[in-house]
Amino acid sequence: MAEDLSPSERRDRVALHDLHVEFRSGGQRVQAVNGVDLRVGEGEVVALIGESGSGKSVTLRACMRLHPEASTRYTGRLEVAGHDVLELTSRELSRLRGKTVAMIFQEPLLALDPVYTVGEQIVESLRRHEGLSRAQARQRALGLFQKVRIPSPERRLDAYAHEMSGGMRQRAMIALALACNPQVLLADEPTTALDATVQIQILLLLRDLQRELGLSIVFVTHDIGAAAEVADRMAVMYAGRIVEQGPAAQLLSRPRHPYTQALLLSRSHGAMVRGQRLQTIGGSPPDLARLPAGCAFADRCAHAQAACRATQPPPRSVGPAHEVRCLRLDELQHLQGSPLHHAAGAAA
Ligand SMILES: Nc1ncnc2c1ncn2[C@@H]1O[C@H](COP(=O)(O)OP(=O)(O)OP(=O)(O)O)[C@@H](O)[C@H]1O
Ligand SMILES: [Mg+2]
Repeated sequence: MAEDLSPSERRDRVALHDLHVEFRSGGQRVQAVNGVDLRVGEGEVVALIGESGSGKSVTLRACMRLHPEASTRYTGRLEVAGHDVLELTSRELSRLRGKTVAMIFQEPLLALDPVYTVGEQIVESLRRHEGLSRAQARQRALGLFQKVRIPSPERRLDAYAHEMSGGMRQRAMIALALACNPQVLLADEPTTALDATVQIQILLLLRDLQRELGLSIVFVTHDIGAAAEVADRMAVMYAGRIVEQGPAAQLLSRPRHPYTQALLLSRSHGAMVRGQRLQTIGGSPPDLARLPAGCAFADRCAHAQAACRATQPPPRSVGPAHEVRCLRLDELQHLQGSPLHHAAGAAA
């Protein structure tokens, strides 16, 4: 999707370097994000995938510093649209949130205010952040509704969120998110609540808008088929780390990390079925308050050895822009069979 710019010409819109996010909660320290490195270029679409609790939402929300300040500790670097997010004042931060970076969620009713019509909310946002007059803002809102392909846009501007269908609400939320021409769109499972046909319509709409507006998008999904259809790159998270990232097609056709392989294993011989959620994997992820010293997947991995439990695997390049964190990469190339501990029946 970013084919018109060569990688060297593309600027990073999101650059996370060794990002850690730790929550202090009930006397415990929960290490939800543990050293994430992720770059998203201008006009690039990156999908974050991984099991529940792997830190996908925490990573996205960190990009806007949305976690409660009192109980959250961020370390590392977090650059979004050229801003050093961890250094911004609260005023700069609200400008970033209101204008430069937009976020959409699984549930549009959380983003859309029930007491105002959707049109009023877009108009209000445009007046506040862009200084437009009411009439100008209304005109722009109408254009946005057309852009997100809401039928009878004039009439729908005056509707309340609860009067719309799920797919329509999602489009309205996207219109609101795009109102102030953001550079970056963060989408947390934007289509999970919708049925499969509407899901794909929304994802294709996002892709079209991305092309038209040169947006950079990071989206979280449980649907690898959908990710394959929309993303340039994919990043696989496990216990707050990215264990593998690379060009979507390559990662899907030749996953290298045992965890990525396990996630993809169930999909009928690699076929990407849209609307299918991620396979659940035997065993459970580690406690984020007591992370192991070595690879966090080791306890569920049939190929784990003593070294895997002792050392944090560094990222290794396995192809252009394709990185994997697994100590046993070389040996595994020659191994056949399931990477799953339970499936392989191996002893711990
Ligand atoms: N404010 C918070 N305080 C304490 N722990 C938190 C906080 N926010 C998130 N967590 C914890 O961080 C971990 C990662 O959560 P996150 O929401 O990022 O998971 P996820 O990958 O988005 O999962 P899902 O697919 O279920 O949405 C979880 O264990 C969660 O309970
Ligand atoms: Mg989440």
